[in-house]
Amino acid sequence: MSDIGTPISKAQNFSKGLEGIVAAQTGLSLVDGERSELYYLGIPIQELIAHSTFEEVVYLLFFRRLPTRRELDSFSKELASLRTLPNELLNFLAESPRSAHPMATLRTAVSALALFDPQADANSREANLQKAKRLVAVMPTIIAAFHRVRLQQKIIHPKKVLSHAENFLLMLHGKQPSPKHARSLDQYLIMLADHGLNASTFAARVTIATQSDIYSAVTSAIGTLKGDLHGLANQRAMEMFMQVGSPEKAADYVKELFREKKKVMGFGHRIYKKEDPRAPQFREIAESLCKGTENEKWLKVSQAIEKAVRAEKPIPPNVDYYSSIVLYALGIPVDFFTTIFAMSRVTGWAAHIFEQLEDNRLIRPEADYTGPMHQPYIPISQRKS
Ligand SMILES: CC(C)(COP(=O)(O)OP(=O)(O)OC[C@H]1O[C@@H](n2cnc3c(N)ncnc32)[C@H](O)[C@@H]1OP(=O)(O)O)[C@@H](O)C(=O)NCCC(=O)NCCS
Repeated sequence: MSDIGTPISKAQNFSKGLEGIVAAQTGLSLVDGERSELYYLGIPIQELIAHSTFEEVVYLLFFRRLPTRRELDSFSKELASLRTLPNELLNFLAESPRSAHPMATLRTAVSALALFDPQADANSREANLQKAKRLVAVMPTIIAAFHRVRLQQKIIHPKKVLSHAENFLLMLHGKQPSPKHARSLDQYLIMLADHGLNASTFAARVTIATQSDIYSAVTSAIGTLKGDLHGLANQRAMEMFMQVGSPEKAADYVKELFREKKKVMGFGHRIYKKEDPRAPQFREIAESLCKGTENEKWLKVSQAIEKAVRAEKPIPPNVDYYSSIVLYALGIPVDFFTTIFAMSRVTGWAAHIFEQLEDNRLIRPEADYTGPMHQPYIPISQRKS
């Protein structure tokens, strides 16, 4: 056997979890961990929450500038006209097992959308823009339809005259939402729309960089968002509030988690070490939705858990912590929380897909080989059991 030598170690370039590695350039959002700030196209997130709408933020991320009134009206109308699902997909949702996790259903439905789109594989900016608008428009219809199917209630078809947030809540609950609920969801969608090279956006960029197609890239991204350490943390945070049940039980619960070296869901962040700028915004919205209602108890439980965590370690709550209470107060079932995250983040995924394709290069990092060397090939008949 010829000596193939010892592999050259690449360990000096290895960064577990790619921490600190710059793997893309983006002109979309700036996540400033040092200053705890977030900007879309240079505009502070706080300005967008106060003055913008989700439709306007979609325009901003897709066209990289704010629209004029006329452009926004026509863009919003176009999005509203793309909300209808093909009948085949409605039938698929009606037949889907009710026990399926809503994120698994959403991932499969988005992948299946490609089968009914003759332009699925076209990768020009124009073709991808059309598909991206459709994905943004149609994901709420998929999510609400699956919710209705699961409740064995009639699917409610989209209404073109309503805003993105209003129409979704109407399709979900079967009644027109209050302006406060619609605006709270709108603000949620604005705040989750993009966030640098987060794991699901990275997955979307890796997939499109092979010159695959936008449906495949968004399907990869949904699958990536579905993990507890990323998007599913909002569901897990709410489940934790429910498990803890009352503020008095928070300290013992948190102590036990730390003793077992388990993660507290909705805390910590790879980039923001001091504060996630979206967390206080969501705390404010949660307070305004819950104060004086039966949901106020979740605020109290969450505040007691936060106090107990801070006493153990200086890790701040992230975007998923207080936003989970907002979603709960909007009547969204807990296992649907991450689909609402996806409904917003599809905007960022699509915008990053456009950006990747404009200056594309295959994304293909290396691995440091740590396995055995110089192993003989033993014929199967001679292997010991
Ligand atoms: C977001 C997250 C995955 C970032 O992970 P990361 O950058 O790889 O950070 P690490 O997991 O290496 O954590 C660094 C340190 O902080 C601690 N830490 C981070 N998040 C924590 C959490 N939620 N609960 C308890 N400890 C936590 C780790 O135990 C580790 O401590 P150590 O250095 O003493 O071992 C991580 O904070 C986490 O798992 N959070 C919970 C899930 C969540 O809310 N995800 C949504 C993110 S927006």
